[in-house]
Amino acid sequence: MLGIFDSGIGGLTVVKKFLDWFKRDHLSYQLLYFGDTARTPYGNRGEEIIKQYALEDARLLIERGAKIIVIACNTASAVATEYLKNNLSVPVFEVVSPAAQKAVEITRNNRIGILGTRATINSNIYDRLIKEYSAKLHKKISVFKNNATLLVPLVEEGWLETVETKKIIRKYLLPLKMAQVDTIVLACTHYPFLLKEIEAKLNKRIKLVDPALEVVSVMKKYLKDNPSVEQGLSCSSKHQFLVSDLTDRIENLATRWLGEKIKLDKVDLK
Ligand code: DGL
Repeated sequence: MLGIFDSGIGGLTVVKKFLDWFKRDHLSYQLLYFGDTARTPYGNRGEEIIKQYALEDARLLIERGAKIIVIACNTASAVATEYLKNNLSVPVFEVVSPAAQKAVEITRNNRIGILGTRATINSNIYDRLIKEYSAKLHKKISVFKNNATLLVPLVEEGWLETVETKKIIRKYLLPLKMAQVDTIVLACTHYPFLLKEIEAKLNKRIKLVDPALEVVSVMKKYLKDNPSVEQGLSCSSKHQFLVSDLTDRIENLATRWLGEKIKLDKVDLK
């Protein structure tokens, strides 16, 4: 199984992109998803806790048969990728490096903006990766960041098109616009829900990067290049969705975000 985890159910936006890919290419890899709904959000937590939670999340998936781990959560990807790679024996994929790479490829004026949670922004991972990738392309790129902490609860409350949300988006985008970025990474599982509202505040020439789409491209290539791993993945359309806390609100959000009703099973984290 392909294991995907997130700090909550925001990671279903990444699942959706995987399912779109399977549909397009007539594939049927079985997904095993875990959303840590009991401990969400991760975005304002400290590094050590995020690492610990991410490792527990990944181990839960591996114990249940995941052969590959995808970190759907931008915060966990930013803070815990190296830690997971060092502590797990299965391949680990994450959303930050493919998004950074894409941004480096598409920027024309070499000014990239990042919107993310506090932990993602404070990790400085984007600065590091963008510097590394841009050096390879002989580009000199400046990175401008802003933590957009209020957007996660607003999206979860379904406040997508309200005046208040639009004002907050404008405020978060302002420093990036002032810096004249031409590319912005939406570095959080929840932000793509605000795509329309974000685009409305930006010049059409500014390009947006959705990390979920980028990790799907990376996975596609990886499985093609690694047939032995690909053949070890089980195929079934019966995907499994696990959460550490289950309420009506979580069920409703999951249905709304995935665009279909799914069965969520509550599991206990050891
Ligand atoms: N999933 C998180 C992310 O993509 C957002 C929610 C949280 O803070 O846990 O960064």
